[in-house]
Amino acid sequence: MKKNFIFIANWKMYLNFNQEISLATSKYDNFIKLSQNIDNKIVLCPSFLNVATIKQIFKTTKIEIGAQNCSSHHKGSFTGQISAESLNLLGIKYCIIGHSETRKNFNEDNKEITQKFIQLLDYDISPIICIGENEQDYENKKTTIILEEQLEEIIMHLKNGLKAAPYLSINIAYEPIWAIGTGKIPTTDYLENIFAWLYEKTKKLQNINFKFLYGGSVGSKNITFLKKINHLDGFLIGVGSLDFQEFKKIVELES
Ligand code: PGA
Repeated sequence: MKKNFIFIANWKMYLNFNQEISLATSKYDNFIKLSQNIDNKIVLCPSFLNVATIKQIFKTTKIEIGAQNCSSHHKGSFTGQISAESLNLLGIKYCIIGHSETRKNFNEDNKEITQKFIQLLDYDISPIICIGENEQDYENKKTTIILEEQLEEIIMHLKNGLKAAPYLSINIAYEPIWAIGTGKIPTTDYLENIFAWLYEKTKKLQNINFKFLYGGSVGSKNITFLKKINHLDGFLIGVGSLDFQEFKKIVELES
């Protein structure tokens, strides 16, 4: 069955400044062609340094540009941080928050991630909220307990009336930490259960445009089965987004 998917390329810090520009410019026509299939949305998330330039490169196209993080604060003495307001001024429409790598490297907790979420909604940017359990919690069958903790505050704010403009999507990316960059991937049954759980968890918030994404070792070898998972609206892709031919297969292979 053909479905509309969103494909979010998370380039992380895999490419240097020049390599990011070179990927965007050398494959410009190919990216455009890929995005012309109206069923698919493509979002490229380069490093902060290139967000403005790559946004400019794809200015008149259907390719969207996202950021890999943002500050939980509006403005002030926050050396090294980038505000949601500045991303908005650049025309950025998506931003990843709560990635397991930023949770770990910057000691981010769910409270801080919720503040980032609020900043993004304030500045008309669709958040991509990453959640996921580590290997130990997976083995101890604690996944939904962890996901519940990670989503609790955000859902509470939405239930209490935090407004998301109707044109924004609230993207929840389930990324089991043990699957990121490892080549390991959960089974179909496991993913069916997780996405059914996420759907149930959010379905009462009918006025919110939730999208459910999977991330963690997405590639051309597993995309066919992943596209069949119920309730799944898209993918967050790290390594598999660095090589255009591989990314193209991920986007184009049918379920
Ligand atoms: P991966 O990364 O596709 O390289 O596993 C996904 C992510 O961390 O978003």
